[in-house]
Amino acid sequence: MNTVQTMALIDLEEEILKLKKELNAVILAHYYQESEIQDIADFVGDSLELAKRAKETTADVIVFAGVHFMAETAKILNPNKLVLLPDLEAGCSLAEGCPADKFEKFRKLHPDHLAITYINCSADVKALSDIICTSSSAEKIISQIPSDTPILFSPDRNLGKYLIKKTGRDMLLWDGSCIVHETFSERKIIDLQTQHPDAKLIAHPECEESLLSMADFIGSTSKLLKFISDDESDSYIVATEAGIIHQMQKAQPQKNFIAAPPEEESCSCNECPYMKLNTMEKLYLCMKNKYPEIVLEPIVAQKALLPINKMIAMS
Ligand code: 13P
Ligand code: SF4
Repeated sequence: MNTVQTMALIDLEEEILKLKKELNAVILAHYYQESEIQDIADFVGDSLELAKRAKETTADVIVFAGVHFMAETAKILNPNKLVLLPDLEAGCSLAEGCPADKFEKFRKLHPDHLAITYINCSADVKALSDIICTSSSAEKIISQIPSDTPILFSPDRNLGKYLIKKTGRDMLLWDGSCIVHETFSERKIIDLQTQHPDAKLIAHPECEESLLSMADFIGSTSKLLKFISDDESDSYIVATEAGIIHQMQKAQPQKNFIAAPPEEESCSCNECPYMKLNTMEKLYLCMKNKYPEIVLEPIVAQKALLPINKMIAMS
């Protein structure tokens, strides 16, 4: 019997829960994971909440259902724990668009600037940064930086532009973007707004400026989730990765959530191809095999820990 045939015969959920006990593991999942993974996780959250949970956990093993930079952050915070990622190829276009050697040159060109870097980057880039931030903590962190300190913000230009507007700080931006958040079709969103005139458009700040200017509310994944619970409307067009709609429906089952559509008709580009590399099968296999694990050079991990801890302290 091959692996696929064997997998079809086992109850993945039951086996994952069994392995979780055996390993004394915690399963942390991001909102963009497939619904089944979110449902089996011990905690589902945004990047900041997941980093905080990873820092606090007493489990021996961290199983990270998210993308590589998130699992790396968990490993940096827990150098002596085993950190597993179901698929090591689960990257991120923002992290890939900001290689450490180019980032180092960027820093050297602006030696007087403080480097505030979005958590969506590699451990090597974190090690070269002064402070890490997430979309839910960036504004608060920037507001604590003295106004005469110049700032380099990397690697998401859309989040950077949004933060410049919100904070009034004139930051130098790295020119990167998220392939998912740049895919939404404003034309199709306007069509949806015509069909659903009461629906509010809610968007993640990784979306382009023109889309953000149409939005009724802008926030990180956790802030979007909180907004739909606190707000009185019944219907929302959701301009972020579609996986979060699972939690929105769980939180507010009587409300209507419409995933913002991508421009291209036939693609599911509003789903993150990296996040969706993780499956229940791979989650089970990584726990069974204790592989693939996140391994980091100790010197990189030590350097990257400082700006991550600053983020946690400042947010
Ligand atoms: P959040 O920190 O808002 O969860 O965002 C993570 C991410 O990758 C957005 O694309
Ligand atoms: Fe990266 Fe975008 Fe996927 Fe988030 S949605 S992990 S920013 S590629």
